[in-house]
Amino acid sequence: MKYEALVHIPTYDCGSFILRPIRFDDYEDMFEYGSDQTVTSFLSWPAYRMLEDAKKSVEQVFLSRPKRGIPLAHAIEDKATGKMIGTCDFHTVDFHQKTCEIGFVLHRDYWSKGIMSQACAQIIRFGFDYLKLETVFVKHLERNVGSKRVIEKNHFRYVKHVYDKHFNEMLPCYEISKDDYLLIKESDMNKHD
Ligand SMILES: CC(C)(COP(=O)(O)OP(=O)(O)OC[C@H]1O[C@@H](n2cnc3c(N)ncnc32)[C@H](O)[C@@H]1OP(=O)(O)O)[C@@H](O)C(=O)NCCC(=O)NCCS
Repeated sequence: MKYEALVHIPTYDCGSFILRPIRFDDYEDMFEYGSDQTVTSFLSWPAYRMLEDAKKSVEQVFLSRPKRGIPLAHAIEDKATGKMIGTCDFHTVDFHQKTCEIGFVLHRDYWSKGIMSQACAQIIRFGFDYLKLETVFVKHLERNVGSKRVIEKNHFRYVKHVYDKHFNEMLPCYEISKDDYLLIKESDMNKHD
């Protein structure tokens, strides 16, 4: 996929929030949830200790992605306040195999309001419709009940447990194929008829 298309990803209106390309000036809001150890205990990166950590993360992890052949991440922005409250994005993409892996994180004040289930559904659509991928993968820690529910609600199929070096444990891995996605889309359309 062309560099320009990886940078200029679409913005999606999801009702109470938008999914829009991440920006450098998101680092202050990222610091707020990224310095919360309850949030990061489920993630592969440690809680930020200084604002500088969040700045580095936005630059080196997120904004550098198109240069590495990966689309820019989507930030979740609360429409009522304009605050950036999380990300839902593909941290790994293989355009040859047409596969990707999704990751997500949300500010603790916004948990259990259905935000990530909805954001994840939209990013899956982005993966199939815009990036033209064939399979989306996802993994979670067994103890991460919230993440497991988001995955279940988005119709992922369990594949197998895989060893994760960072957590030094086996993690359940799931996938959703483009065919699954098209079937779900069709059945949703029939429900609304
Ligand atoms: C996991 C996470 C993204 C969930 O986001 P969310 O917006 O709260 O998820 P939703 O509101 O869409 O929740 C989906 C379901 O899970 C439930 N749920 C959410 N968090 C939960 C928790 N901590 N414990 C138990 N259930 C939880 C919700 O109540 C909802 O239940 P329902 O199926 O009955 O409707 C969020 O908790 C988070 O950012 N956690 C820290 C980072 C993280 O774990 N990232 C994922 C790494 S794999």
